[in-house]
Amino acid sequence: MTTVSRRTKPIALLGSAGLCLLLVCLCAFSRNADAASIARSLIGLDSHLEPRAVSTNYAYQRMIANIGGASSTAGGNQVPNVQTGAVIASPSTAGPNYFYSWIRDAALTMKVVVSQSTLDRTLMTNYANAEKVHQQNAAQSSSSQGEPKFNVDGSLFTGPWGRPQNDGPALRASTLMAFAKRIGLSDSFTTGTLYKSDLSAGSLIKTDLEYVAHHWQDSSFDLWEEVQATHFFTLVVQYRSMVDGAKFATAMNDPGAASYYNQQASAILSKLQSFWDSANNRIQAYQGVSNRNGIDCSVLLGALKGWDTTDTSAAVNSTLFGPASDRLLATHKAYVDSFRSLYAINNNAAAPAAVGTGRYPSDVYDGDGTSQGNPWYICTLAAAEVLNTAVSVASTRGNLAVSSTSLPFYKQFSSSATTGTFASGSSQYNALTSGMKAMANGFVDIVNQHAWGNGSLNEEFNRDNGYNQGARDLTWSYAAFVSNDMASQGKFLYN
Ligand SMILES: *[C@@H]1O[C@H](CO)[C@@H](O)[C@H](O)[C@H]1NC(C)=O
Ligand SMILES: *[C@@H]1O[C@H](CO)[C@@H](O)[C@H](O)[C@H]1NC(C)=O
Repeated sequence: MTTVSRRTKPIALLGSAGLCLLLVCLCAFSRNADAASIARSLIGLDSHLEPRAVSTNYAYQRMIANIGGASSTAGGNQVPNVQTGAVIASPSTAGPNYFYSWIRDAALTMKVVVSQSTLDRTLMTNYANAEKVHQQNAAQSSSSQGEPKFNVDGSLFTGPWGRPQNDGPALRASTLMAFAKRIGLSDSFTTGTLYKSDLSAGSLIKTDLEYVAHHWQDSSFDLWEEVQATHFFTLVVQYRSMVDGAKFATAMNDPGAASYYNQQASAILSKLQSFWDSANNRIQAYQGVSNRNGIDCSVLLGALKGWDTTDTSAAVNSTLFGPASDRLLATHKAYVDSFRSLYAINNNAAAPAAVGTGRYPSDVYDGDGTSQGNPWYICTLAAAEVLNTAVSVASTRGNLAVSSTSLPFYKQFSSSATTGTFASGSSQYNALTSGMKAMANGFVDIVNQHAWGNGSLNEEFNRDNGYNQGARDLTWSYAAFVSNDMASQGKFLYN
């Protein structure tokens, strides 16, 4: 059934350096990816390649095509006969079977839905009702709300799995609090289903916040479901849920809970400080994992999903590990650099070129079994989203601050960069932000180059030949595409 597929293999084998030798003039005038794309059509490798196969609207429609009962204008609904409102990770039922609903993937997807300028109340209500079923079923499991995935009819998945995964309830609470704020705290769905101060009522948000407040100190499987340890991503999204949960509880006349959540938030923030690795000038992704170097896409994802998007000063705050903070940008550089020579398709392209990035360098998961790890769409897009967030935040704040921690990151874009705070319009501000923007666009170009001809995105693209790999039409790949695009426009996820 393969129709038009992207011919990434010949491009990868030729390599961008080779193309630039062939077409020096084109490379001199435009961004690498654009030059490469023109070069490909000129030499007949890929005459049907469009510069932007995946548009934001298309990605959004493909994302909601994977939600039970939702109607999509692109490709129709891909997940018939599933629980209404359940967000399915992928329509793929074999090789791999991702035909389940994960709490994490669903919450991250619906955070994108709730953040659109026009609220799709029906879709959000259906999601909340599906999660109500998951939450009630999880109460029967020994992992309680740390139960990570459910069958498509909402029933408990009882096979062996990495349990608990304690980022799930935190992310779900954040998404549902955003929904409650958009419909209003006195709306009957908020007061009837989403939040009741009476714990025995088992309301959605309260149940999740209580779980986080009592379990954040437990070791947990990571978002990749591989290792049980202590994880930056998990803690940072738990922190967000506790801070916002305390404010929410206050607004819902539940002061005892608010004070308890605030105490947990302070303790989590204090624990998070231990993830800063000053010797390596980067944030460590885990504690208690011995065979990895701690460079991981999850750090970028945590910063992107864990900051208070109502406050641009939080984005640049290094104590809070904001996505535009010096600590996170230093980590971004270490992360991206670790994939330049690792994956053949990257041709060891030097900074500031964008490259395809994976979960972590020593990854061996290939999308179905284990052989070798590949670049992932969500990670390559997270690399873009960090840059777009930092540029949008700088623009709102009217300046860009360069510290000794972030100087190596900024030197990628201007070798003469120095520390200091630079007002928008100054030459250093312009050089650095335009360099960051170009690199961000480079990551998106890579995503477009490896998408199927119809714009479909799998989970991964092969590190050697560039073809799509792993679960097809991964819901999170599309959600990541949309949230990066929002960040590039200075629109952030709703908190
Ligand atoms: C897009 O193309 C891929 C690869 O040919 C295919 O697997 C997928 O089903 C297509 N998606 C749609 C919605 O047509
Ligand atoms: C960063 O956030 C922390 C924790 O909220 C706060 O104490 C500190 O004052 C903030 N730093 C700046 C520079 O605003």
